[in-house]
Amino acid sequence: MDAFKLTIENHVFNILSDETILRCAYKNGVKLKYHCASGHCGKCKIKLKVGEVDLRHSGGISREDISLGYILACCSYPKSDIEI
Ligand code: FES
Repeated sequence: MDAFKLTIENHVFNILSDETILRCAYKNGVKLKYHCASGHCGKCKIKLKVGEVDLRHSGGISREDISLGYILACCSYPKSDIEI
């Protein structure tokens, strides 16, 4: 398992490769918006500013949004240091 850095508004947190962005944020007291937490509803959509993720969604985001750099925090796992 790899460990990376997750940056949210200039705060830097440790995130593991088997941890979603949403889970890591909440663990560190950052309350991102979400609803289903399973990749369906799209409520947790955020822009990935830096880095790469493994996005394992269930239809909650369009191909167009993905091509514009959006991801779903509830089902995105880091593959590098990332910033949202
Ligand atoms: S919370 Fe529903 S898709 Fe992430």
